Amino acid sequence: MCSNLVKEIIRLKKEKNAVILAHSYQRLEIQKIADFVGDSLELSVMASKTDADVIIFCGVDFMAETAAILNPEKTVLIPVEAKCPMASQLNAEMVDKAKENGLPFVAYVNTYAEVKAEADICCTSANVVRVVKSLNSDEVLLGPDRNLAWFAEWKTKKRVIPVPEGGHCYVHVQFDRSDVIRAKAKGVPIIVHPECNPEVQLLSDYIGSTSQMVEFVRKHGSAVIGTEIGLIERLKAEGYRVDPLKCVICREMKMNTLRDVLRALREERNVVEVPSDVARKAKRAIERMMEISRGGRS
Ligand code: 13P
Ligand code: SF4
Repeated sequence: MCSNLVKEIIRLKKEKNAVILAHSYQRLEIQKIADFVGDSLELSVMASKTDADVIIFCGVDFMAETAAILNPEKTVLIPVEAKCPMASQLNAEMVDKAKENGLPFVAYVNTYAEVKAEADICCTSANVVRVVKSLNSDEVLLGPDRNLAWFAEWKTKKRVIPVPEGGHCYVHVQFDRSDVIRAKAKGVPIIVHPECNPEVQLLSDYIGSTSQMVEFVRKHGSAVIGTEIGLIERLKAEGYRVDPLKCVICREMKMNTLRDVLRALREERNVVEVPSDVARKAKRAIERMMEISRGGRS
């Protein structure tokens, strides 16, 4: 790691009372300088708890947007405006159309503010089961990830209708049956993210959000992991015996570099802003989710 760059980031962070939040898919050098590394739910919680004046959000844009919605009085900066391709698969108009049948709509946190503003509640991969169970309806709409909707339907026994029908994460759908069957020979648990295809989830030993997978590995010591490579690199660096189910990379998550973090701190550039009327409505759906997940994570 370039030590001068890191020293300067640490100095500026202090000077500006800034905090660095990073998702587990970020480059390892960014995870190492972050004040907090976590999954979407944990990062949202951290963003709402921090007393820093500036939040440097190392992740993709919808995550930084969530932090800005929860902290209208703080400056939220995104070093590089990296767009999650799955979040772009759903807009407010599509949600309004789907809601014409009167069913509640659950917005996966991997959505933009305009979609969250139309939602009854948000969810993350860590709390989707709890959120869907909490709704007073046996049929719900959930988007944009069709695989997360499938997972929620499987675990809750409610009907969970994906909006749109084919929403997906291009990173996680790269895993297939044969990857899991091959990995079984290693004799260690296979753990995957709920954005993976159903046949992959069904053959695996455990399904969870990125942080739930971290918890699993800390408890069991080893695993073959079906998610973005950044999480596996982090666990390897911590000394765990982990292997990727297959090496898959989220290009957007890898766009941030240490230089970008430094530039963001220095120039206070790429301020994340959400129109106040949209932010107010989106915040309601996020807070409703946080309320539900306070009692536990699944
Ligand atoms: P987590 O909430 O599990 O960290 O997932 C976020 C994500 O973008 C997965 O692709
Ligand atoms: Fe979006 Fe998939 Fe990348 Fe997560 S891994 S940020 S869902 S493209």
